[in-house]
Amino acid sequence: MHRALYLVPLCNKSTKILLFHTFTNYQMIQRILYFSFMIILLGCTSQNYDQGKTLYDSQCASCHRSDGEGLAKLYPPIKGSDYWREHLEDVPCIIRNGISDTITVNGVTFTTPMQGIPDLTEYEIANIISYIQHEWYPEDSKMDISQVKKSLGNCKEVY
Ligand code: HEC
Repeated sequence: MHRALYLVPLCNKSTKILLFHTFTNYQMIQRILYFSFMIILLGCTSQNYDQGKTLYDSQCASCHRSDGEGLAKLYPPIKGSDYWREHLEDVPCIIRNGISDTITVNGVTFTTPMQGIPDLTEYEIANIISYIQHEWYPEDSKMDISQVKKSLGNCKEVY
């Protein structure tokens, strides 16, 4: 009896019209929200790329050059580096803490130490790595922020 009473208003013509309008408006709102979300997402992605590029150009390019080729036997290349591919999980720590080991990159030995940049946040480090991957390692699997955080939590004393 109670339930039946509740159902009666749903059968009114005016209620049906109201429900129809609410439904179409709801779809409309959904669409608007969806597009806004996509725009924000696209905006964020290009913002990450822009920040990665700006940071690479200001913090790394003086040595590794803006084309990523490095400089002779002094600064190793970031583009097409076998070291990069083999030690990707160390890269966040190398950016933050530097590296002073003697390393071999594409068969060339490098001994000059690199200073770290401790002020960079994990997001900035992730954006630099993502910029480098986008430019020079498009086919490699991407290192995301959670992997960067994980790497930074396991940094060795010295690289
Ligand atoms: C002042 C010069 C200098 C700057 C600035 C610099 N590096 Fe380096 N980087 C070096 C040198 C020199 C080495 C080699 C270190 C060694 O032999 O132990 C190196 C090594 C590396 C390596 C490992 C080798 C390779 O080429 O794959 C990576 C990765 C790297 N740097 C990334 C970066 C990134 C990213 C930045 C910017 C956030 C940066 N470096 C800024 C000089 C620099």
